[in-house]
Amino acid sequence: MVNNNRPAYQLYEGLGLVAYFPAKHWDSEADKWDATVANKSFPHYFYYYEADLYIADLLENSRLALELGAGTCGSTVKHASKDGRIVAIDYSRRMLEAGRNKLRTAGLSDCVDLVLADICSLPFRDLCFDRVFSRGVALSYARDPKRLASESHRVLQTKGRLGLDFMNRASANKVKRKICRFEQLNDRLYYVERFNENGKQRRIGYMVPKETIASHRIEGAVFGGFESKPDWLRLDGLPREEWWAVFYAPTEARRLLRSAGFKEIKLYPLGCFTRGIRKPEVSRFLMDNRDQISKIQKELAQIFRLDQAVHIFVTAHRERKM
Ligand SMILES: C[S@@+](CC[C@H](N)C(=O)[O-])C[C@H]1O[C@@H](n2cnc3c(N)ncnc32)[C@H](O)[C@@H]1O
Repeated sequence: MVNNNRPAYQLYEGLGLVAYFPAKHWDSEADKWDATVANKSFPHYFYYYEADLYIADLLENSRLALELGAGTCGSTVKHASKDGRIVAIDYSRRMLEAGRNKLRTAGLSDCVDLVLADICSLPFRDLCFDRVFSRGVALSYARDPKRLASESHRVLQTKGRLGLDFMNRASANKVKRKICRFEQLNDRLYYVERFNENGKQRRIGYMVPKETIASHRIEGAVFGGFESKPDWLRLDGLPREEWWAVFYAPTEARRLLRSAGFKEIKLYPLGCFTRGIRKPEVSRFLMDNRDQISKIQKELAQIFRLDQAVHIFVTAHRERKM
């Protein structure tokens, strides 16, 4: 149901829009999240791998890092070690439960502490981590991005470093299609329409009576959904809710981090090879050679235009380098 106590969209001074994306979404994604990230035909297959390349550099010589929005710990398992411990936080209990199992299977349980917490209100002392990092655009989902930035700065040690990704505003308008799918959020079933509009990734969820879908196929090919509404579904009169994530322009991300006190802010493109490819054989070549192609993109980051990037990875220092 639409919550009338809060504005439909919240504007932040100097920043534009902020996100509204409750944890129940991520709880409902927990079981399928790893398959989404590993699906070669989803863009995640590229830009998550690429974010991890930057995170690996960032975590060099790290002893104790904080990971924001760790989810099912897909990035955590790649970077945690006995000498490089990670405290991984997330506000979705179910994502963290899946993450705990993954860490156990990888034999990394002793190297990682999992904490159920909000990335905009960190339950840690000042100056206690040498790095803060994130993969999977937690900034774009943050209700209070200014606090996310200032809290990250607060918990970092004096020469500590930050590295995280966000959804790039410039790429938002390039994707016109609407993706529709059914989602079980807590005990409610929703038909959710997802599309980009005015700098946000909007989702409108219609609460569907369970009996309505009992006799219909509800899995589709596009991100686990359909490109258009199934004909048999009637939305008129169904109660609805709305949620959204936010695309940031590079200048907004810079301003956000600078006003939290960060220095040496640098931006790198992610996912440049995931859009605009029409020839199936080129697309196949990219998928088959993702690792090398993503490494080339990183190595030659300066020749890729930021406005062609789907996500952007930003790094910053707590202090200026001497
Ligand atoms: C796109 S997923 C990425 C998960 C994981 N980092 C990965 O790369 O697979 C975003 C994650 O951020 C978490 N998240 C979003 N907003 C959050 C908040 N305000 N506090 C804590 N976690 C949050 C979600 O629960 C979700 O697990």
